[in-house]
Amino acid sequence: MKMNGQELVPSNVYKPISFLTGYGILSLYKSRYNHYFISSFLTNMHIGKIKLENNLVLAPMAGITDRPFRQLCKQLGAGMAVSEMVSSNSLLRGSAKTLRRANHEGESLPRSIQIAGADPTLMAEAARFNEAEGAEIIDINMGCPAKKVCNTLAGSALLKDEPLVTRILEATVKAVSIPVTLKIRTGWDPNHKNGVTIAKIAEESGIQALAVHGRTRSCFFKGEAEYETIAAIKDNLRIPVIANGDIETPQKAKEVLMQTKVDAIMIGRAALGRPWIFREISHYLNTGTFLPEPTLVEIKNILLGHLENLYQFYGEYTGAMVARKHVSWYSKGQNQSARFRDHFNRLETPDEQKRAIEEFFT
Ligand SMILES: Cc1cc2nc3c(=O)[nH]c(=O)nc-3n(C[C@H](O)[C@H](O)[C@H](O)COP(=O)(O)O)c2cc1C
Repeated sequence: MKMNGQELVPSNVYKPISFLTGYGILSLYKSRYNHYFISSFLTNMHIGKIKLENNLVLAPMAGITDRPFRQLCKQLGAGMAVSEMVSSNSLLRGSAKTLRRANHEGESLPRSIQIAGADPTLMAEAARFNEAEGAEIIDINMGCPAKKVCNTLAGSALLKDEPLVTRILEATVKAVSIPVTLKIRTGWDPNHKNGVTIAKIAEESGIQALAVHGRTRSCFFKGEAEYETIAAIKDNLRIPVIANGDIETPQKAKEVLMQTKVDAIMIGRAALGRPWIFREISHYLNTGTFLPEPTLVEIKNILLGHLENLYQFYGEYTGAMVARKHVSWYSKGQNQSARFRDHFNRLETPDEQKRAIEEFFT
């Protein structure tokens, strides 16, 4: 099988024979060495002692993966949903906004909170703070190219400084008794793809799972994510590896799992306005067939529930402001959506917003 001109099944493996069992679709592969092995793509994954419902993960996205969105994605099939990034400096200053980002009250398990920073002592303190607040997994962000994060040498800028990476990871792991995970890009720029080196440092430092976005820091979001480096990282590690970048459909999810042999996949932008993508992928991996698209009424009900949680979480005014971007994603591609968004973005109260949604999504 080929994608973008590239072979998806490793060259030492012959085509699979797939068959349906009580566990869903299993694929029987014959290797070059003439032995057979079985692969099921939807699996229960472990991070340390924590067992996830499945191996589909919502990516951390600043300003988006707040508690209401994480909870919704989990309800619709994500096995884990990583929180928005919280900077270690601001966390310890404790502003209301930062504390809200770290809020997991009532959220179903597992609760993973992402921290970012370049000072090992502050990162260790931030990890301890979140453990005390009920986090079950601490995720470290070395994958975000944002100027704000990179200028202070956090996020993916850190990938350049391997000794500092080691010190941050070791200090954070030592500070808590819960698993620590790491998110990276494949390297600093296309000529400095040190993803495998960083991954080995991570494993040796006690990191329990590694998510890799298939772009370098200098690529921002340009071009297409590549999965060869992710496959090489997986090949070199014993801890679970999670592939991320441009996974937008159930077929792509399966292709990436096959190509890289990773343990899990992570979805970011494709879940915006489509939180049901997790159940679509899980259904496809299990059965090889596609779920029908949700009806307008189903979308309306999911959206109204989402907004209700936003109003409660942020308060009515801020909740209504946050709702605008989500509604614009949910309405994308629907008839007359540009006109609807223009109207919706002028509404300021929950009641007005809910009425507009009742009218549009029918
Ligand atoms: C709006 C936005 C905010 C993001 N914020 C974070 C973040 O806080 N931490 C992080 O590690 N990655 C962040 N990312 C990167 C995503 O987690 C993910 O790696 C990236 O979007 C590629 O995955 P995708 O193609 O499935 O979207 C962000 C991405 C977007 C689009």
